[in-house]
Amino acid sequence: KKVVLAYSGGLDTSIIVSWLKENYDCEVICYTADVGQGEELSNLPEKAISTGASKIFIEDLTDEFASDYLYKMLRSGAIYENKYLLGTSIARPLIAQHMVKIAQQEGADAIAHGCTGKGNDQVRFELTVMALDPSLKVIAPWREWDICSREDALDYAAAHNIPVSSSLKSIYSRDRNLWHLSHEGGNLEDTWNEPLEDMFQLTVSPEQAPDEPEVIEIEFIQGYPIKLNGIALTPANFVKELNQLGGKHGIGRADMVENRLVGMKSRGVYETPGGTILVAAHQDLESICLDRDTQHYKNLIAQRYADLVYNGQWFTPLREALDAFVDVTQKHMTGVVKMKLYKGSVTPIARQSPYSLYNEDFATFEEDSVYDQSDAEGFINLFGLPLKVAALRNLKTDAA
Ligand code: ARG
Ligand code: SIN
Repeated sequence: KKVVLAYSGGLDTSIIVSWLKENYDCEVICYTADVGQGEELSNLPEKAISTGASKIFIEDLTDEFASDYLYKMLRSGAIYENKYLLGTSIARPLIAQHMVKIAQQEGADAIAHGCTGKGNDQVRFELTVMALDPSLKVIAPWREWDICSREDALDYAAAHNIPVSSSLKSIYSRDRNLWHLSHEGGNLEDTWNEPLEDMFQLTVSPEQAPDEPEVIEIEFIQGYPIKLNGIALTPANFVKELNQLGGKHGIGRADMVENRLVGMKSRGVYETPGGTILVAAHQDLESICLDRDTQHYKNLIAQRYADLVYNGQWFTPLREALDAFVDVTQKHMTGVVKMKLYKGSVTPIARQSPYSLYNEDFATFEEDSVYDQSDAEGFINLFGLPLKVAALRNLKTDAA
């Protein structure tokens, strides 16, 4: 029997290697994706093999993550519960998709992950596996074993000769990738506790940010960010570059209590510097390139899209259908937005597009030829007619 394990090299997944061999009597193949978590991965092969894995695959997925996942989501406008830019959620189907590929290539029977039984991540991994290869089984040790604390984990490691790196484990549960860094747990579990400043890693506090604002220009073609200050960048480099800029100006912090799919509310603090800038710029371009009805309807789609991403329903017919809708809306989403970065805020200050629907001639209060003000009278009469009819009825009935 063979199992492909989502492996990080940390204490938990190291224990899982040995636990799987003991409890499932199987060969363990480790899989690690580089999605921009900024961790050294070169020591992982030695670590994995010494912990008992038969093989390890390490893949750099940052470009695919940016172009096929982050940019798709950006164009959709998805934001979960008005705040969360979905950094962890969107990476899970990508990682799981590649694990399925490896499992098929290696003739494995199952996929294993180190997500707890109380979170969203387990759902995202497993829905992806179910959608892409229903013959694969899933093993989720956290839902089976009786390891409940860090002490239990260390005891298990000692008893099984698992090398433990001495680095002190953070009190926070964190997840970092190209798009964001999330913080949960620790002192954040009390919603009345403010985040401690030394928790943040990608952004300075707005108070510490430079006193001088910085103005940047982002050019989009069909809703895809193409150039930053006139220079073309690949999707992954675009996000990296904006992370630097946003981080320096204290942009992209979000502190929220969110509704997990599995039912409970949970406190999370997110740092999404580059993503926050891109979302603001993209939204602003839409304000000139989309007609009113499509713009309003797209907001509904965006919310549904966010739920799909959050709930791990990436590989679904509905997500594909929504993408088809989004594609149509982005046909003319080409132009440049000027953004001001200043002490935690990102403000669009100018925008232009060859496809702009904004027409100075129509909007101006000066004399113009296309808009006849006398048309407005008839329009208002008919637009307000239902109000008038109701008011007349009320006059009659209320008097009676
Ligand atoms: N609450 C966020 C989400 O569900 C972040 C999850 C972070 N995951 C982690 N394994 N630390 O997307
Ligand atoms: C976990 O429980 O594994 C992390 C948090 C989450 O998935 O929501």
